[in-house]
Amino acid sequence: MNKVNNILPKHIAIVMDGNGRWAERRNQSRMSGHEAGVKAVEKVIKAAIEKNIKVVTLFAFGIENWGRPAQEVKFLMRLFIKNLYNQSEEFVKNNIQLRVIGDRDRIDPKLQDKINQVQQLTAKNTGLTLIIAFNYSGRWDILQAVRCISQKVQNGEFTTEEISYQHIQDALCLSDLPEPDLFIRTSGELRISNFMLWQFAYTELYFTEVLWPDFDEVTLEEALRVFSLRQRRYGLTGKQIKKATVN
Ligand code: FPP
Repeated sequence: MNKVNNILPKHIAIVMDGNGRWAERRNQSRMSGHEAGVKAVEKVIKAAIEKNIKVVTLFAFGIENWGRPAQEVKFLMRLFIKNLYNQSEEFVKNNIQLRVIGDRDRIDPKLQDKINQVQQLTAKNTGLTLIIAFNYSGRWDILQAVRCISQKVQNGEFTTEEISYQHIQDALCLSDLPEPDLFIRTSGELRISNFMLWQFAYTELYFTEVLWPDFDEVTLEEALRVFSLRQRRYGLTGKQIKKATVN
């Protein structure tokens, strides 16, 4: 067997898709699907800690999700704030550092305050770094990076010609963390949906039919197994990679 990459991913990024379909199959409201989705989040956090995964990023609310029915948007906002209140002690107890990425402008000030509070409370934690992408999109991330770089050019910090990949990298969210090694999307949809567009340049993609509320430690384990069989080549040949692994 071609088992070339038996290391664990340091960073897993997940699109938690299929809450609505999970609920509809049970003749329940979409909201109960999202509530069941929160339970899956808890299971995955626990499993990630047990597996010693360093960073998990969860796409909880995309900028495009504002277009959903107002009632669902309101529910998702409330669900997020409720969980920040309920989970903050658990984050502290489990040494989890919580970070929220995304455009804060449209977020309710009360929710912003709570986000800041939990981020501060957990900032020094050294275990799992849990990133919640909320009112986030990959294009927004690139846009805010471009604005930040333009400002630096205006300030005379460097010229347009001097702009490098590193400047872009540094201006993006999560620039201090390893890029995701593994992307997981549940529910059988085969898309990235405006998630971490820059950061996914060399991320291994894994898609599963499992609906998000059914995702658990067993399905995570399967994703990790598949990841462990991948050969990450970064533009090189398989032979070069094998040689580098042996040396
Ligand atoms: C996608 O499923 C799911 C979302 C847009 C929301 C994800 C939110 C959660 C899992 C719960 C909140 C998370 C935290 C971190 C508290 P969908 O609604 O698009 O499902 P469908 O494609 O079957 O309709």
